[in-house]
Amino acid sequence: MNCAPLTGELTVPGDKSISHRSVMFGALAKGTTKVENFLQGADCLSTINCFRAMGISIENYADKNQVLIHGKGLHCLTSPDSVLDCGNSGTTTRLISGILSAQPFTSELTGDASIRKRPMERIITPLSAMGADISSINGNGCAPLRIRGRRLSGIHYQSPVASAQVKSAVLLAGLYADGSTTVTEPYRSRNHTELMLGGFGAKIECDEASVTLTPPNELYAQELIIPGDISSAAYFLTAASLIPGSELLIKNVGINPTRDGILRVYRAMGADIALLNERTVSGEPAADLLVRGAQLHGISIGGAVIPALIDELPIIAVAACFAEGETVISDAAELKVKESNRIAVMTKGLLAMGADVTETEDGMIIRGGRPLKSAAIDSRLDHRIAMSFTIAGLLAQEMPDIKGRDCVKISYPNFYEDLQRLVSD
Ligand code: S3P
Repeated sequence: MNCAPLTGELTVPGDKSISHRSVMFGALAKGTTKVENFLQGADCLSTINCFRAMGISIENYADKNQVLIHGKGLHCLTSPDSVLDCGNSGTTTRLISGILSAQPFTSELTGDASIRKRPMERIITPLSAMGADISSINGNGCAPLRIRGRRLSGIHYQSPVASAQVKSAVLLAGLYADGSTTVTEPYRSRNHTELMLGGFGAKIECDEASVTLTPPNELYAQELIIPGDISSAAYFLTAASLIPGSELLIKNVGINPTRDGILRVYRAMGADIALLNERTVSGEPAADLLVRGAQLHGISIGGAVIPALIDELPIIAVAACFAEGETVISDAAELKVKESNRIAVMTKGLLAMGADVTETEDGMIIRGGRPLKSAAIDSRLDHRIAMSFTIAGLLAQEMPDIKGRDCVKISYPNFYEDLQRLVSD
């Protein structure tokens, strides 16, 4: 490979999962929640619009990534005049469904073509078990959803999937339930809901794979500073690791242990990543990542680490194409029900670029070392696919023609500008 090294500094935008939750919990809390470093991605703007439609005043100062949410308390949402539009956002759709299940009104939720194909049975099942009246309007287990608010009872839900969206939907419904609510997962998923609800005043108890919420009387407004999104840092972490001579400082990245799987995996593959200035910001661990170029080698990636790097698997697959030997990704069937079928779409695109990749039932097998070349890639309007193939193109030194590349606005509106600046520095 003959790319110019990536050097200098980069600050990635705020964490998407935490930005969504800051609006939702702020809307349900009493008082004004002030959020700094809010992600201005289209998904988080969908969440803001949904809560505005339910009577919450939200000021978004996009130029300084600051949001003020004027919450009125746990029982103060009002009936929306029209269908709530969740856009491309699974987090918005699933988490809001938990809240709506307990409101004193009926509502409908929908989203774009991708959201209307994603599985919602995974929340319909546990919310119904709590007493919710929630259904898929077209009877196909997907959005649009109709939700008639009901009185709910707490449950102990054994989730068949490790999913923070499922866990959070159930816990948010649990805010309104009679009795406590527990969710147990096969592996622990990201824990931002637990950490943040605790900060807003809810009683939360956690152990290895379970979390229990006792319904509070009220939540109380917070001042939050959101760390940078490790899922956005992942693209530059990968490029800098793979381009010899790189030395890139990615500042202010969230390194919550339920999200840092990519750091653990890249280090096991031989990457040179140092954590500087480790700190805790608004209850979330963060650090600056100093990444230097290194020769990576293939490993097996599966089991408990998967939920901690689920959104990074597309870019990890790109890294594996440049690693020595074989990388086996397994236990990742959840990738098939993301914004696109990420196993199929990554396999097809990498094969088109000349990589040695085999698609499996729950992952991919990638044999590294073949040079990649440009190819026509369809992002399927999936932001993580578009960014992963942009980095693959950078490493191949021939940018692929990526259909729908503007979809990066979902999670990283300035992705191409940030890349351009680093490449031309
Ligand atoms: C998210 C949870 C994950 C992740 C998604 C964001 C969240 O989805 O892939 O990008 O904010 O809770 P699942 O819960 O479906 O695993």
